[in-house]
Amino acid sequence: MFVKLNSAALVGLEGEPVEVEVDLQRGQTAFTIVGLADTSIKEARDRIYSALKNSGYTYPFNFRILVNLAPADLAKEGPAYDLPMAAGIAALGNKITISTSESLVAGELGLDGSVRHIAGVLPLALFARRHGLREIFVPANDAAEAALVPELHVYPVRTLVELLDHLSGKTRIAPYVRQEIPLAKILPEMDFALVKGQEFAKRALEIAASGGHNILLNGPPGSGKTLLARSLPSILPSLSPDEALEVTKIYSIAGLLTDALITERPFRAPHHTASSAALIGGGRIPRPGEITLAHRGVLFLDEFPEFPRTVIEALRQPLEDGSVTVARAHGSTRFPSQVLLIASQNPCPCGFASDPDGRCVCAPAHITRYQKKLSGPLLDRIDLHVEVPRVKFDKLASNELAEASSAIRGRVAAARARQTQRFTGSALCTNSEMGNTEIKKFCRLDNASLELLRAASERLRFSARGFNRILKVSRTIADLANSTEIQLEHLAEALQFRLRGETN
Ligand SMILES: Nc1ncnc2c1ncn2[C@@H]1O[C@H](COP(=O)(O)OP(=O)(O)O)[C@@H](O)[C@H]1O
Ligand SMILES: [Mg+2]
Ligand SMILES: [Zn+2]
Repeated sequence: MFVKLNSAALVGLEGEPVEVEVDLQRGQTAFTIVGLADTSIKEARDRIYSALKNSGYTYPFNFRILVNLAPADLAKEGPAYDLPMAAGIAALGNKITISTSESLVAGELGLDGSVRHIAGVLPLALFARRHGLREIFVPANDAAEAALVPELHVYPVRTLVELLDHLSGKTRIAPYVRQEIPLAKILPEMDFALVKGQEFAKRALEIAASGGHNILLNGPPGSGKTLLARSLPSILPSLSPDEALEVTKIYSIAGLLTDALITERPFRAPHHTASSAALIGGGRIPRPGEITLAHRGVLFLDEFPEFPRTVIEALRQPLEDGSVTVARAHGSTRFPSQVLLIASQNPCPCGFASDPDGRCVCAPAHITRYQKKLSGPLLDRIDLHVEVPRVKFDKLASNELAEASSAIRGRVAAARARQTQRFTGSALCTNSEMGNTEIKKFCRLDNASLELLRAASERLRFSARGFNRILKVSRTIADLANSTEIQLEHLAEALQFRLRGETN
């Protein structure tokens, strides 16, 4: 006796087909699971036994149960196979004929036969549609997530009995009715209106938000670096529908999804004690790290020099490529990591080196060592270097409101619209993602600008990468000014944000 159900395994962000084959043969009672299943799946045997009993089904004693999760070379983990395995065993053991060829089944079982939430439902649903399956059976709590995928019949399953009754044609489960997803904006709690002064830093953040450029805030303690960074989301445009689905998929896999659909750009601020695995992803079956959770949004590394050197180094490649490769037992997995990096640092261990009143108590060698921590290749990947001085008391004490985030956000949106138009038909979204070809095409300079750039590069000794970054930032500044060409003033402004970085 044999039955087969469709399920799927998650490899990185994508689903891969898994067939759950159940076979029953007369013999001494036994239950074996084969097909590169980890211990969490093997534990399903006990759950399935209890769930069957408590759902009123006969457990097939005096049978050898064999479950094969095919293909065998694909590693599988987690409780999502509970439901298809149990459905197959209950059907064979109770002579219930079920029809399963057009559906995907996934869910964890409770001992009482109830069906529990699993992570990664959105990618499973996307997989089902891509593979021409018409319907998906998921835990009732996860139905809204599956329903994000259009044209797929979603059946919310509360119990094992419900599933078998449906598949055998006895009682059908009411399909999930898609609801309008409320796009009500959750207003960020921070607003630039409340940040006094700091015009230079705010301008830099506006440029960073517009073009997706990485940014470093450098200044003494209490100067408002953390405040500025945390205000950044308030000027970022919402995710496009495609981006929203992409980000939601990541959170679904990480088991961090709280709303049905994520529409706001993520903002992740891992602490400096986080391991490099937590930051870039990892694990036996790889999970996305912070840099992937920040995909299409912001990765904020506060007090950057406090992060271990190894962690800083591990970030280099993902920042450059916009994706991160995580090694796994069978091959490797790629996760996206297109982030806007914002980092902050004090100028020295005590924090006061850049203060004009000479309060710094650090030995010069210590200051150099501290600043060196960031130097070289990583610093080179930061487009905007910004000094954040302390704001004078009078200014801090005033009640005047600065420009509101909504106004800045409007300019950012306009600059992004220009980029969207520029990159129509390519995978690029923002200027920061341009490669050499695009830079040649879209960042032409007139003679006066070339002259300025030559003079600056002699003085500041740019690397080739640094050179390209200046051009990309200039492009964004021109976009903010609604200018088709990069003009001298745009380049000049872009250069201001390199002065410190290149002299390190
Ligand atoms: N420009 C500013 N406008 C309003 N409040 C500020 C400003 N700069 C700093 N603050 C306030 O001062 C405190 C310290 O700022 P914070 O951002 O933590 O500084 P840093 O991260 O540079 O050490 C916070 O309570 C912050 O709200
Ligand atoms: Mg701070
Ligand atoms: Zn100091």
